Amino acid sequence: MLWQNVRFDCARPVNLAMRRILLTSALPYANGPLHLGHISEAVLTDIYARALRQQGHSVRYVCAHDAHGTPIMLKAQDAGVSPEELVAEVGREHRRDYADFRIGFDNFHSTHSAENEQALGRIFQALDAAGLIDSREIEQAWDPVKGMFLPDRFIRGTCPRCGAADQYGDACEVCGATYEPLDLIDARSALSGAAPEQKPSTHYFFQLGKLEGFLRDWLASAELQPAVRAKLGEWFEAGLKDWDISRDAPYFGFEIPGAPGKFFYVWVDAPVGYIASWMDLCQREGVDPWQAWQADDDTEIVHIIGKDITYFHALFWPAMLHGAGLKPPSAVLAHGFVTVNGEKMSKSRGTFITARKYLDALPAEYLRYYFAAKLGAGVDDIDLNLEDFRQRVNSDLVGKYVNIAARCAGFVKKLGGGRLADTLDAPELVAEFAAAGEAIGAAYAARESGAAVRQIMALADRANAYVAERAPWALAKDPQRTAEVLPVCTTALNLFRLLSLYLAPALPDTTAKVGEWLHGLPDWSQREAPLLGVEIAPYQNLLARVDEAAVAALS
Ligand code: 2FM
Ligand code: ZN
Repeated sequence: MLWQNVRFDCARPVNLAMRRILLTSALPYANGPLHLGHISEAVLTDIYARALRQQGHSVRYVCAHDAHGTPIMLKAQDAGVSPEELVAEVGREHRRDYADFRIGFDNFHSTHSAENEQALGRIFQALDAAGLIDSREIEQAWDPVKGMFLPDRFIRGTCPRCGAADQYGDACEVCGATYEPLDLIDARSALSGAAPEQKPSTHYFFQLGKLEGFLRDWLASAELQPAVRAKLGEWFEAGLKDWDISRDAPYFGFEIPGAPGKFFYVWVDAPVGYIASWMDLCQREGVDPWQAWQADDDTEIVHIIGKDITYFHALFWPAMLHGAGLKPPSAVLAHGFVTVNGEKMSKSRGTFITARKYLDALPAEYLRYYFAAKLGAGVDDIDLNLEDFRQRVNSDLVGKYVNIAARCAGFVKKLGGGRLADTLDAPELVAEFAAAGEAIGAAYAARESGAAVRQIMALADRANAYVAERAPWALAKDPQRTAEVLPVCTTALNLFRLLSLYLAPALPDTTAKVGEWLHGLPDWSQREAPLLGVEIAPYQNLLARVDEAAVAALS
């Protein structure tokens, strides 16, 4: 089978129950900088990918830029560049930010690519052939000053359901109602301030309602969180409407085949971008990209998304795939938003933290750790409380984790000439730490990294208590007991090595340094074998404390 040609971490021992997972996080719009919301999602997905790989599963993590749509077109116009130039420039910044946060994509592509146009063409033609595409003339909001049709988000007015003022043209942020832009009371163009006029235009529609039976079955079988399931239930209740998948020129996107001047709405080609990124990867590796989307293929397709885009991923996307004869996602997993000091990120309040602003102030791994400690499998928002962040990194990573190595490594040099003992002082404790990997691995695999981190830090407390109790510094001073020092420190360093293995999904750089120092991190499946009787280099400090000034620079 073609999959065998794909390089899936071949060096690792094969787990008999090995899963093949094609994992994605949402595609960021290429019209502005990444912020900590994007980073929390990428960190969540990256930790999940690394943890599953560590346990022997085959995971490919792909992503891309979301390049199309009116906002990008207008932003490029304002900047006096082409949309392609804007997307390329912003894209470079995004790639750099993700790389500096150690997000280990297997591929990062763009929705403005030949692969995306090709995949979209295939899907659209199949939907059309299956009788799922309809076209008809509708009244659209027209900006008489700008001379263009207005996207929903560029019309603002009063919600027709609850009366909230200044709402977008597609949905009310106050009561959650969804509606047509011209249903808004006192609608205004956000571009010119003019009252939009109505003008007829032919649009193309995806007849979602025809796939309700499929969607209900998918809802029952796919991996979805209770909150997502409940939302889908509400949407079924409200009735599945046809989805308008076209936009009129001028538009930055792909033209609909056979319909000059009509373009695919950005949300149609955005999720297809997952396939496009995968195609790009498969082309490089010489395998058939479509294999993973065949019903009989066992690849799990897992999308990690913000809860605000559930509608697109849990209704339209599975329906598009199924309607086109392709396999729908196995899982659509939503997460909450990031708040800073309890508030929604806001530019005016100075709590809008871009990825670069953070990276200019502090190491990426501190935030990766903090997010890991806070993230769970639910859709709750997570708060970055800056003082809590500082204290937690200092107390957990510096005070507990690296402290174990810092307190013991010197004695290996002094009393063992740099060589670990051949025996452990507390083999049962090392065995217990190795056994704890079972529950920690299970927590990561359930995307409960917060639970994994809590267990790891409880182990770190035990390791520190062991070191304090055996007090190698006191043993070293007692000529009768000097011989005990090396087995004690060798035990402590083995505990530290296992903690590093467990923290590796969250702290890839630091734990890689530990691996270089301690003859590699253990293989997951052989982690009960201790490291004994080998030379180790002198310890070098792994992590520095976070000072108040660095954190102050974030706000
Ligand atoms: O909401 C957003 O930021 C979109 N750019 C996410 C797209 S995800 C996928 F469908 F492409
Ligand atoms: Zn409302």
